[in-house]
Amino acid sequence: MVQLQLHLLAALLPALALAIPSPVAPRSPATNLAGAASKDNKRYFGDAYQSFYLADPRYGPILDSQFSAYTPENEMKWEVIEPTRGVFNWTGSDLIVAHAKKTHSIVRGHNFCWDSQTPSYVTSITDPTELTQVLEEHINAVLGRYGNDLYAFDVINEPLNDNGTIKSSVWSNVLGENYIETALTIAHKAAPNVKLYINDYNIEGVNSKSQALATIAKNLLDKGVPLHGIGFESHFIGGELPGDISQSMKQFTDLGLDVAITELDIRVPVDSSGIANATVRKLQADNYATVVQACLDNGNCPGVTVWGFDDGHSWIPGVFAGQGDANLYDFNYQPKPAYYSTLAALQNGK
Ligand code: G3I
Repeated sequence: MVQLQLHLLAALLPALALAIPSPVAPRSPATNLAGAASKDNKRYFGDAYQSFYLADPRYGPILDSQFSAYTPENEMKWEVIEPTRGVFNWTGSDLIVAHAKKTHSIVRGHNFCWDSQTPSYVTSITDPTELTQVLEEHINAVLGRYGNDLYAFDVINEPLNDNGTIKSSVWSNVLGENYIETALTIAHKAAPNVKLYINDYNIEGVNSKSQALATIAKNLLDKGVPLHGIGFESHFIGGELPGDISQSMKQFTDLGLDVAITELDIRVPVDSSGIANATVRKLQADNYATVVQACLDNGNCPGVTVWGFDDGHSWIPGVFAGQGDANLYDFNYQPKPAYYSTLAALQNGK
């Protein structure tokens, strides 16, 4: 009945370009991120995680109460899911998809074509026909299994250099820039209802990279290629947000695309125990609210996903020495100022 009502609600609100998919159950706006984001049936609020994080009994209750969208942080990547040609490991991805069904949440799949976390049997291919065949087999297997369970998929991940040129990868080196069109077309045929994305970083402001991607996106759309959205990764540094996130979003939403915030975290300087001081956390909290507001201000931004909700499950400290404290919750699963500023932005936003 509730599901039916949500379908009807979505159908009766044509003014909303946005309507979160019906599996997202109603949640209380006053008390959680997903509920506040779903106000007026508009947006999801997501978390990227790995299935084994749930082994910590403190993880699940926050995941289930605060988030309505999941991205597999690693477990739908090529090296995990098909480490050997034709041999599939569905363990982690099955768990995440099943958990989403249980909690009435959506799943953003991540990813197919990337220059990282791709096995050497793929990256060593030099023949275009063989590479296309392997790509088609992989996409068909993943979307054959999950095509009806996914909201979106980052088909193309991080395709550009910062100067706007196509990044070197097995995909671009063997298939040329055309690999983008090829992968999107295969994915759409395999799962016509899944929203297909190009996902990248350093495109959150108007710059050479985002302008080049807008040109690529326009050319693809002009050719009728099935591209539905652009992912703004949004791995930011505290105090260094681009001042023109809304303008950059508009470059893509003016083309008729969605723009989702797909991997938000905001790293800051930390002490030897990995913790930032209160002044820095306040600045970070303001920055989180700014990013969320940019999404709320755009009628074609369907939601925000944070790249891990707690500092205990963040990729940052392992990669950026002296930085961290990038997430909404601390190492002890306590909400930080960034959590409260994010919640307030969602509650007060349109
Ligand atoms: O699975 C192995 C495990 O068997 C091994 O014992 C362990 C030892 O290091 O490594 C494990 O693999 C790690 C994997 O995460 C799973 O935990 C890799 O070393 C590690 O490099 C990998 O890092 C991931 C990274 O992508 C790889 O580039 C991060 O968790 C993940 O958060 C990060 O996510 C990316 C997005 O996909 C794309 N955008 C940027 C973002 C941050 O880098």
